[in-house]
Amino acid sequence: MTERLQIQNLYKIFSANPEAALQILANGGDKNTVFDKLGAVVGLNNVSLSVPQGAMYMVMGLSGSGKSTLARCINRLNEPSAGKILLDGRDIVPLKEEELREVRRTRISMVFQHFALLPNKRVIENVEFGLKLRGVSPAERRRRADEVLSVVGLARWGYHFPHELSGGMRQRVGLARALATDADILIMDEAFSALDPLIRTEMQDELLRLQRTLNKTILFITHDFQEALKLGTRIAIMSEGELVREGTPQSIVLEPGSDYVAAFTREIDRARLFDARSVMRATAPILQSERGILVGDAAGAAGPGFVLDGEGRVLGALDAAALGRARASGEMGTPSSDYVSVPGNAKLLEVARSYRDGRPIAVVDEDGRFVGTLGVDELLSRISSTSAKTASAGDRHV
Ligand SMILES: Nc1ncnc2c1ncn2[C@@H]1O[C@H](COP(=O)(O)OP(=O)(O)OP(=O)(O)O)[C@@H](O)[C@H]1O
Ligand SMILES: [Mg+2]
Repeated sequence: MTERLQIQNLYKIFSANPEAALQILANGGDKNTVFDKLGAVVGLNNVSLSVPQGAMYMVMGLSGSGKSTLARCINRLNEPSAGKILLDGRDIVPLKEEELREVRRTRISMVFQHFALLPNKRVIENVEFGLKLRGVSPAERRRRADEVLSVVGLARWGYHFPHELSGGMRQRVGLARALATDADILIMDEAFSALDPLIRTEMQDELLRLQRTLNKTILFITHDFQEALKLGTRIAIMSEGELVREGTPQSIVLEPGSDYVAAFTREIDRARLFDARSVMRATAPILQSERGILVGDAAGAAGPGFVLDGEGRVLGALDAAALGRARASGEMGTPSSDYVSVPGNAKLLEVARSYRDGRPIAVVDEDGRFVGTLGVDELLSRISSTSAKTASAGDRHV
């Protein structure tokens, strides 16, 4: 994947003279040291991250951790104190005002928490706003605004005023306005935080649906860990202006790495987060006969066996006792059709629902080929704990 947006060693000091603060940080001081010595606020402290094309990259953290400062630095509403912001490999920090305006108009769009709609302009004029700044002709910008209003489900609302719309609808207008410019990077700062829970869930689903066709690169800021898990392809967690953890949703839950991160993960619903593939055990061939290939737990531990055809499709299963006999005698015995088959991407909640007492569980891929097995023990222990498993490659604990 290409890296659309890269942040390298970014600092933001809120002070007329950031140099002294940067020096303190370079010498190992933190946000509090800088504040005590200089009275200056550290907004960002050496933040580096990398957002691939098409990602839904979540930035989360408590209030005051620097999330909005990061978002505002990326389109330079806040001037970074040090560091680089690479857009497709090109640093936008040194850009002059003119070039910067171009980047803001064409490359990066923002969606804010409080919608920031112009109250005395109609919905359609709000949506057209960015295009007007860009000098797009009235006919063309109206056409484009109509188009994006239907994308967000507001085709009939263009000639209403913002106050005639509900909160959720107003946020759709905010989204339409951001989409209208065709910028490939969307920065959404707490975009859904002001919405009622039900509308919020609806907007999250809507964004996931839209993203499947739009394939934008989205940096989404939230203080809600559930939202980060639901939407994110990767999550960066901030604290005190620093990035303290970065990784996939599953790996962060499995291995928070610090009490700060663990506190977010405590409440989450693992059964909805993890899939069968993430807990399954690998298997290895044990016997081959005219019936097919018998596979069982690679570690040789107890558990069921499965008989596969040449394509890797499951023909039948042996329970643990029958597999033990087969291992001992070298005779496969008769496979049974009494097993449960679940797709690798099935969430553990679904696996638990389809589980039938004592029956072997075969995990299969999209083509129906066997990829592994999982037992009720793995299922329950993953649902109920954060039991350690090594973090995936590329994970960062800072
Ligand atoms: N213009 C500013 N001048 C001085 N300090 C600022 C300014 N903007 C932000 N800060 C400080 O920078 C730090 C990070 O603020 P920021 O708004 O980025 O936090 P946040 O993570 O977005 O919080 P929230 O979840 O409340 O939106 C805070 O300590 C804040 O007080
Ligand atoms: Mg904020």
